[in-house]
Amino acid sequence: MSGSPLKVAVAGSGMIANKAHIPAFKCMGEDRARVAAVFDTREEAARDTAERHGIPAWYTDAGEMLAKVKPDLVSVCSPNASHRAMAEMALNSGAHVLCEKPMALTYADTKSLFDLAQSKGLHIAACQAQRYRGEFAAARELADAGVFGDIYYGEISLIRRRGIPKWGTFHLKESNGGGAFCDLGVHMVDALLWIMGNPAFESISGMSASRLARRDEEIGLVTNLAESGTPSGVENARPYSPAEFEVEEFAAGSLRVAGAIINFRISWALNLPPDFHVSFSGERAGARLPEMEIYSTLGRYQSDVRPKIYRNGRYEEREFSGHYYLVDDFLNFLSGNGPMPVKPEETLNVAAVIDAFYISARECREVRAAEIRG
Ligand SMILES: NC(=O)c1ccc[n+]([C@@H]2O[C@H](COP(=O)([O-])OP(=O)(O)OC[C@H]3O[C@@H](n4cnc5c(N)ncnc54)[C@H](O)[C@@H]3O)[C@@H](O)[C@H]2O)c1
Repeated sequence: MSGSPLKVAVAGSGMIANKAHIPAFKCMGEDRARVAAVFDTREEAARDTAERHGIPAWYTDAGEMLAKVKPDLVSVCSPNASHRAMAEMALNSGAHVLCEKPMALTYADTKSLFDLAQSKGLHIAACQAQRYRGEFAAARELADAGVFGDIYYGEISLIRRRGIPKWGTFHLKESNGGGAFCDLGVHMVDALLWIMGNPAFESISGMSASRLARRDEEIGLVTNLAESGTPSGVENARPYSPAEFEVEEFAAGSLRVAGAIINFRISWALNLPPDFHVSFSGERAGARLPEMEIYSTLGRYQSDVRPKIYRNGRYEEREFSGHYYLVDDFLNFLSGNGPMPVKPEETLNVAAVIDAFYISARECREVRAAEIRG
């Protein structure tokens, strides 16, 4: 690819487009990328987003946008269930794709996107921006250096006590595919498997629940958008109606990957205190994140180490800083100046986990990789 700036189109003009993708692309400088158009199925969202960010064109028809703008890169920021069709259209039009997580709702759909990209000589990457959290990135660096040895046990705990996303269509099965697990679990599973060196998914046994979302509304429970992951609010959001809530607010279970087992609990709503932890143990050392406490031995003594993780990267002060780092790395990769930040085999592994979890929760049984990967 030449050194000229990439023409970027953003598909889906909601919260993450406005708060993360568009600001991140604009921050990279016009010599690297230029946001040429936005698209949304809702006219006001597309128009207001274009006006808000000074983007020259907006569309309510994806085909028209791709034909007229001919983007080099499409950032897919629409609800989960539309990712596959939108990414497919973008790839067929000749554009690379940066796709919000999860890239698609099933392993088969995710694989078909990578196959299509490969057949066209294009690239598609899932927006696993949480990897850029300082402690996750440091854990990966230390794992690569052999500090932990083989990691054989992991724990993921992301508990929002009351953090159901009350904007857009996260609570609708048809739009989001699932609830807390495909929204938050995808980040946590991706981050831990990435730290562990992407051990292959083997099986999962999980359960899901949805007990609180509607009840909370009946008593008028006070909640806060910040707990749902959008501290500075949303614009042009579709109104939330709890009566429509139809996905899981809580997911828990046990995941086997090659040589290791991982217990997880993920919630948008649960009657437990908020929690955010990833812990793992290897044969040489273990760690608990985000504190980045490392449990090991020194000589004859059990010893704890707390490396200082300075957050002095260039985008640390930004809301959704991970998106800035990821966009930067993806642009570098596309211009031949760096590695692919989120590799296809990693995204496929996570897609198999997500796919299998929902079968397991629905059918109350363990689901093995062969069922998913064929
Ligand atoms: N990586 C992260 O940290 C992170 C954070 C939040 C959301 N997300 C992901 O981003 C995506 C969007 O989330 P959001 O919070 O911006 O939601 P949102 O509801 O605020 O925005 C989605 C927008 O897409 C539009 N839309 C609906 N169907 C569409 C279609 N077929 N084509 C184009 N646009 C369509 C909606 O009108 C809406 O404006 C989801 O996949 C979500 O999982 C990622």
